[in-house]
Amino acid sequence: MSKSAVLVTGGMGFIGSQIVRMLLNQGEKVVIFDNLRQSDVGLLKKLRFPETNEINTELGDITDFANVFNVLKKHDIKKIIHTAAITFIPTAIEKPSLTFNVNTIGTFNLLEASRIFDIEKFVYISTASTYGDFHYTPADEKHPLDAKDIYGATKAAADRIAISYYRTYKMPVSVIRTTSVYGPGDLENRVAKSFIEKALRGKPLTLEGGGEQRRDFTYVKDAAKGMVLALNSEKANGEAFNISGNQDYSIKELAMIIKHFIPETEIEITEGRKVDAKKGKLDTSKAKKILGYETEYDLKRGMTETIRWFVDVYCPVFGIEPKREVILE
Ligand SMILES: NC(=O)c1ccc[n+]([C@@H]2O[C@H](COP(=O)([O-])OP(=O)(O)OC[C@H]3O[C@@H](n4cnc5c(N)ncnc54)[C@H](O)[C@@H]3O)[C@@H](O)[C@H]2O)c1
Repeated sequence: MSKSAVLVTGGMGFIGSQIVRMLLNQGEKVVIFDNLRQSDVGLLKKLRFPETNEINTELGDITDFANVFNVLKKHDIKKIIHTAAITFIPTAIEKPSLTFNVNTIGTFNLLEASRIFDIEKFVYISTASTYGDFHYTPADEKHPLDAKDIYGATKAAADRIAISYYRTYKMPVSVIRTTSVYGPGDLENRVAKSFIEKALRGKPLTLEGGGEQRRDFTYVKDAAKGMVLALNSEKANGEAFNISGNQDYSIKELAMIIKHFIPETEIEITEGRKVDAKKGKLDTSKAKKILGYETEYDLKRGMTETIRWFVDVYCPVFGIEPKREVILE
């Protein structure tokens, strides 16, 4: 009998593609389900799967229940890692209806189809944005879900609906809440990606209000590892886990780490928002205890691999000639 496949929704995306790579390395059969919102498959393969052609992709949309149902049936799916979403906060603010449809209804469609097919495991990637402004730090999983924006709210709704499928139907569901993910493959203008690109293009890095905002930056391989650990753990059923880099840094410290590797980088400080969403460190002790999760990458180590990817893959694909010397140890 042939081995059943793991379905990775959003598997052509930034975090999803790392999960796919990790599963393939572990010998799993993987099917990607993605609507290629960000770009075409050729470009995404070059950027996110530069070393392999072995990916099996089903083009489809999680907001279409019949589409989801047919993919689960066609591939005899027994396990699902669900990452597909509208993920960039400015896009979510601009398109709240799309965001609700994809993030909340799309997750519901996957859960409902999984219930019908008696799925063996469902792992949903949630976010620390569900906590909103942190009431305390490090924030553990008991922190109130008090999302500030439409992105966080649609993800919080899906986070709770996912757990309700465990509580109501005993479906083996786990939820991973991660935060400020960075690393090879990010194409959205989040702070780490935007700073590296500016530094390579010879533009200054701007620290609004001094760059004192704090983030628990999570390297994409650590985030993917947390998801895969949950996929394979029965003890994780019905539980939510924080996964992060386990250390918070200010945006200014992030800029200084980039300057360490690209020494000619200029940093300028402007007036402006002193504080945006109040965030801090996530408490990952539950993931450590139950999943055996350990953070492998601190910000400096993760940045080394990220900047290397920018130089080796991103710049050549987009025809960017780095204007600054890069020194990676
Ligand atoms: N990037 C972060 O810092 C971060 C932090 C916490 C949680 N997350 C969560 O991780 C997940 C992945 O985020 P990412 O940064 O890799 O985002 P991404 O945008 O790179 O990837 C999302 C993928 O989902 C696909 N997709 C979007 N809408 C779809 C639809 N309707 N049907 C099928 N596929 C669709 C996109 O084409 C894309 O490939 C999201 O659920 C996000 O909420 C991300």
